[in-house]
Amino acid sequence: MSTSPENTPSTKNSPAELTGRVAVVTGGGSGIGRAIALRYAAAGGTVAVLGRRPEALEETARLAGESGGTVETASVDVRDADALTAAIDAVAARHGRLDALVNNAAGNFVVPAEDLSPNGWRAVVDIVLNGTFFATRAAARHMLGAGDGAVVNVIASYAWHGHPGTVHSAAAKGGVLAMTRTLAAEWGARGVRVNCIAPGPTETEGAGAALWSTPQARERVLDSVPAGRFTTPEEVAEAALFLMEERSRYITGTTMVIDGGQWLGRRVYG
Ligand code: HXC
Repeated sequence: MSTSPENTPSTKNSPAELTGRVAVVTGGGSGIGRAIALRYAAAGGTVAVLGRRPEALEETARLAGESGGTVETASVDVRDADALTAAIDAVAARHGRLDALVNNAAGNFVVPAEDLSPNGWRAVVDIVLNGTFFATRAAARHMLGAGDGAVVNVIASYAWHGHPGTVHSAAAKGGVLAMTRTLAAEWGARGVRVNCIAPGPTETEGAGAALWSTPQARERVLDSVPAGRFTTPEEVAEAALFLMEERSRYITGTTMVIDGGQWLGRRVYG
């Protein structure tokens, strides 16, 4: 990609102009993934949502249809590299392009590290770290061929500051952070950007069940957020959309945190 000013592309798409663009969102059947898919579709783009539960994916497609957007679905577990690659290849073949990938599929539960079984460790690392790489590899083969594309990986701030009870998820998301920086450097000259978003505590069913399942736990989490409330999936989707779009064309290898100041504002003194 040339960097001379006369060749610098104009802003090809505003938030309302993603017509003709195609994205894949993993874990698009619920929560943050669904919000990102709906936002992309509302801006005119076509989104393929991948996930394990067909009925949840269909609900995302139905909701998109209500607002005139286009969402396609494919039932696939991101731990199955072959099936994941086939699903992403099929999207690219159907549309003749693939502009963006959001690696949102995740698995999580809070557990003392010494009690975590090998299977529990493997389940989370397989979904988060391996699944992200398998999907990115598949998507990048199309993007690198076209010399254009954006990958957005969903991580969490404990990828760099750590958090008790999340050793599997933190290790996996820390790996995704390192993967993001590595691939941003490796593919930067070939037009493919790779970035992360790090949502704070977000009001979704999955996160609530996994991370704040009691009223006391919920209160404790809320108390840790300087902004005084949970993040909404729609706020996270705005950040993802920006990094998927042409507007952010000079941004790669970075992490946008959407957490109401949570990780900076952990109170210790006073
Ligand atoms: C201890 C547990 C456990 C728990 C599962 N395991 N839940 N161990 N405490 N609460 C162990 C099981 O005992 C088993 O090990 C192994 O993990 C695999 O469990 P399965 O249920 O057989 O696996 P599977 O059906 O594949 O489920 C994967 C999963 C599940 C990750 C365990 O929770 C899942 O799919 N979740 C997806 C949705 C999700 O978690 N969303 C939340 C994302 S929120 P053994 O040894 O018994 O065989 C998020 C936000 C973070 O990530 C950021 C916040 C700021």
